[in-house]
Amino acid sequence: MRFLILGANGQLGRAFMEALGDRAVGLGKRECDVSNLQDVLDAVSKFRPSVVINCAAYNRVDDAEKDPYSAFKVNHLGPRNVAFACKRYGAFFVHYSTDYVFDGKKETLYTEEDVPNPLNTYGKSKLFGERAVLEELGEAERFLLFRVSWVYGKGKQNFISKLLSWAEGRDRLFVSCDEFSVPTSTRVIVEGTLKSLDAGLFGVYHLVCSGFASRYEWAKKVFVLLNRKVFLRPVHRSFFSLPAERPPFSAMSNELLCSKLSTFFPNWEEELERFLPICLSL
Ligand SMILES: NC(=O)c1ccc[n+]([C@@H]2O[C@H](COP(=O)([O-])OP(=O)(O)OC[C@H]3O[C@@H](n4cnc5c(N)ncnc54)[C@H](OP(=O)(O)O)[C@@H]3O)[C@@H](O)[C@H]2O)c1
Repeated sequence: MRFLILGANGQLGRAFMEALGDRAVGLGKRECDVSNLQDVLDAVSKFRPSVVINCAAYNRVDDAEKDPYSAFKVNHLGPRNVAFACKRYGAFFVHYSTDYVFDGKKETLYTEEDVPNPLNTYGKSKLFGERAVLEELGEAERFLLFRVSWVYGKGKQNFISKLLSWAEGRDRLFVSCDEFSVPTSTRVIVEGTLKSLDAGLFGVYHLVCSGFASRYEWAKKVFVLLNRKVFLRPVHRSFFSLPAERPPFSAMSNELLCSKLSTFFPNWEEELERFLPICLSL
C-alpha cells in the first residue's frame, strides 16, 4: 500500500509518518488545505496513493463555539473533499471522528449502533464530516471511519501536555471528575488502523483503548507514573465555565473492532504506563 497522510503535522499525522516511513507521503496544512478541493484533488492525483489517511482536523472544542465556520470548514468540508478525491482516483479513505458526536447521557459504553446527538459545535462539525464520508463512499464500501477519544501522543496538543504545563510551579490543580471517556494513544490508533486495513475492513468503528476514566483519574495516573507530587482536587466540570458543553460520559466500546480483528486493545492504564515515557521523550 502507498499512503498519503493529510494533516501530517498533527499528533496523529506525525505518528503515522513515523510508523510508515518511506511508504507514506505526508502533507501539512500549507501543502494541502483539506478545505480546498483543488488542493486535495492535486495531491491525490499527483501521488496516486492506494490509501489516504486524513488526520487533519479543527480540534479547538471551545473556540468552535465562537467560530463554527472554521470548525465546519475543516471537519465537514475537509472529509467531503477528501472522500470525493478518493472516489475519483480510486483510493481507499481512512478518516477519524470523535466520541463527542454522542451526548453522553447513555451511562454505558457507546457502540457503533448508538445514535449520535452532539452537544457542541465541534461534535456537530465532526458528525457532518462522518455523514459526508458515508454519502460519498458508503456505497462503494471504500472507507474506514474510526471514532477515537482523548487522543495523546508525542507533542503538545493533548491533555497530558497541557496538564504538565498547568502544573508547572504549582502544587495543586483542579481537574474535573464528572467527565468520562477513554484515553487513547496515537500508537493504539495507528496499529488499529493498519491492522484494519490489512484485514480488509470497511465501515464505522470505535477505535479506543479498553476501560474508561474520568479526567481526574487520568491526571492522577499521569502524576503517579511521573512520581510528581501535585495535589489534585476533583471538581465538577461546570467549575471551569467553558464555552462548549461536554458529554458527561462519552466512553466508547471497542468490542466490535476487537472481534473483527480477533485482537484486543490494551486497557487505558496499561497503555499509559507503556506509552507515557515515549510521549515525553520528544
Ligand atoms: N485530540 C483529541 O483528543 C481527539 C479526540 C477525539 C477525536 N480526535 C480526532 O482525531 C484526529 C487526529 O487528531 P489529532 O489529535 O492528531 O489533532 P491535531 O494534533 O490537532 O492535528 C490536526 C492537524 O490538522 C491540521 N489542520 C487544521 N486545519 C487543516 C486544514 N484545513 N488542512 C489540512 N490540515 C489542517 C492542523 O494544523 P494546525 O495545527 O496548523 O492548524 C494539525 O496539524 C482528528 O480527526 C480529531 O478530530 C482527536
